[in-house]
Amino acid sequence: MIRKRKSVRKYDMTKLDEATLNKIREKIGALVPLFPEIRYSIEMTDSTKGLFNIKAPHYLVFGSEQAEGFAENIGFIGQQLDLFFSEIGLGACWLGAAKPQGEVNSALPFVICMSFGRPAEELHRNLADFRRKPLHEMSEGQDPRLEAARLAPSGINAQNWYFIAEGGKIHCYRKKAVLGFINKMGFIDLGIAIWHIASESENFAYTKEVNAPEKKGYIYMGTVK
Ligand SMILES: Cc1cc2nc3c(=O)[nH]c(=O)nc-3n(C[C@H](O)[C@H](O)[C@H](O)COP(=O)(O)O)c2cc1C
Repeated sequence: MIRKRKSVRKYDMTKLDEATLNKIREKIGALVPLFPEIRYSIEMTDSTKGLFNIKAPHYLVFGSEQAEGFAENIGFIGQQLDLFFSEIGLGACWLGAAKPQGEVNSALPFVICMSFGRPAEELHRNLADFRRKPLHEMSEGQDPRLEAARLAPSGINAQNWYFIAEGGKIHCYRKKAVLGFINKMGFIDLGIAIWHIASESENFAYTKEVNAPEKKGYIYMGTVK
């Protein structure tokens, strides 16, 4: 799915049946967090608001306690759902521009939304149709998992991440940002790319190292082992 998925922005507006929604609820209950100690919430809703918003029959609303690492954690968790939707024949799109409308039960602060539903456009694409920077502009060193990170989606396709592979490890960085809005997205984007790396790892672990290499213009975030 990493090599086929794409953001879907046009939907068939008919609601999904209860059996499909239950399958999604089941998946939501089986997600793997990056930081298990951070409390988060995922709710389904029919409407969201916001300029440049996408019209879809369903949305997920992600909330989280604002602990260090919460945005990477939401990116990591949400990307499991993005790939799951693609796998079961549904379209999805991360929505940094949308906000929940009306009743949301979660007491946790809102982080981001994701639209989903039956696609009214192509659901999958060929590898050649991904618009991404080449690997050498976003990484150093050799690791077969870097390609999965390269193909990850990011807000406005910014791809503001950097990876240094050495000795079976991948050190992860995000670009220094000036704007707060872009900043939160940058953390979510990195979490998404880390899920892509994790899904191609045999034994995944993510920790902060004291002696990780520095990269000019970027901030070190953590290391995949
Ligand atoms: C954190 C995040 C926020 C996003 N917000 C929006 C959005 O508000 N509106 C939109 O149309 N697409 C949004 N996207 C989708 C990106 O534009 C898209 O992932 C990127 O252009 C790469 O294209 P692809 O997903 O088809 O590979 C967002 C993606 C991410 C990861």
